[in-house]
Amino acid sequence: MTTSVRTRVAIIGAGPAGLLLSHLLADAGIDSVVIDSRTRAEIETTIRAGILEQGTVEVLEATGASERVRSAGNRHDGIELRFAGEGHRIDFAGLVGRGVWLYPQHEVLKDLIAARLAGGQDLRFGVSAQRVEGADTDRPRVIATDADGAPLEIEADFVVGADGSRSVAREAVTGSSTGGYFREYPFAWFGILCEAPPSAEELIYSNSPDGFALISQRSATIQRMYFQCDPETDPTAFSEAELWDALQTRVPGTTLREGPIFQRDVLRFRSFVAHELRRGRVALVGDAAHTVPPTGAKGMNLAVADVLVLERALRALLQEGDERLVDAYAQTALRRIWKAQHFSWWMTNMLHVAPDASEFDRLRQVGELRSVVESEHGRAYLAEAYTGWPL
Ligand code: PHB
Repeated sequence: MTTSVRTRVAIIGAGPAGLLLSHLLADAGIDSVVIDSRTRAEIETTIRAGILEQGTVEVLEATGASERVRSAGNRHDGIELRFAGEGHRIDFAGLVGRGVWLYPQHEVLKDLIAARLAGGQDLRFGVSAQRVEGADTDRPRVIATDADGAPLEIEADFVVGADGSRSVAREAVTGSSTGGYFREYPFAWFGILCEAPPSAEELIYSNSPDGFALISQRSATIQRMYFQCDPETDPTAFSEAELWDALQTRVPGTTLREGPIFQRDVLRFRSFVAHELRRGRVALVGDAAHTVPPTGAKGMNLAVADVLVLERALRALLQEGDERLVDAYAQTALRRIWKAQHFSWWMTNMLHVAPDASEFDRLRQVGELRSVVESEHGRAYLAEAYTGWPL
């Protein structure tokens, strides 16, 4: 027996995009059902990146979706770009009068899940979407199985695929589960979490002859760090001493404060934009629509930006019968998406060392880094993009 549920907006994926969209729609009086194949515990504990643009923080606070950002997160007014053994501060506050917040994504998710449940919203964990049907009708449907394996069908006025890079909604929009503009990189990040005090006050993005490293933070006692590695690297293949050695050699001129490493992972790098972001009454947001390499810290921020555009469009469609903003959704969202794609690609290529880099490539790269840090315009471009373009 298939259980049928009827709602106005069916949202696949309880990540930042899906949860925020459901929250904003509820504020506008529009019901939604959010499903996710993962358990609540999995969603709330998976380690992800941690930088929120100022605009993202403002949205989370203004909508009541996450009020802990400012108290539990840390404002950062700059980053350090390190190369050729020297550090160069990019002073966000001085250059563009804006900052970012270090507040891990799973903390945002905890806040959003608590807010959804407190609001009595229909949020279902352990429910797997199989496919989306009826995109070209005004009754699109999500075909799913519930937490007990029983068939579930959600019929809606609109379906949103917020279901991440392995989106099942994408096929209903683009005609293929993979269809998109795509780029792979010949490197990945080896990420660690360790028990140690911060090594610096701000994040360090470091280019060295041995490759890239990012020295990030989590709290006064826990730090997050990454170094460039081969995508095929086995995360268990290094001893702790080897990991510290790999990190230290990639931040020449800095002494890292070491401590026990209690979590390690390898993150693959890709850039992706789906060929289409909407078909009829099905749209994609967040990683289902696009993926960026983590160097520009844009992933979650871009998801929030998509949601703001789509939410306005859904209000116009569902409350006034006005289709114009939904028709313009892809075009509007793609302007920011491609800027963020460029920024993420640029930061990645400027800071990492390609496995086949020649001496020319290395020297050119240092020239590029100097042309950024030694120019107020160069620093300001980086600061503006990193802290986020206006929403
Ligand atoms: C992180 O802290 O996990 C982090 C920070 C900045 C990035 C990527 C990841 O660009």
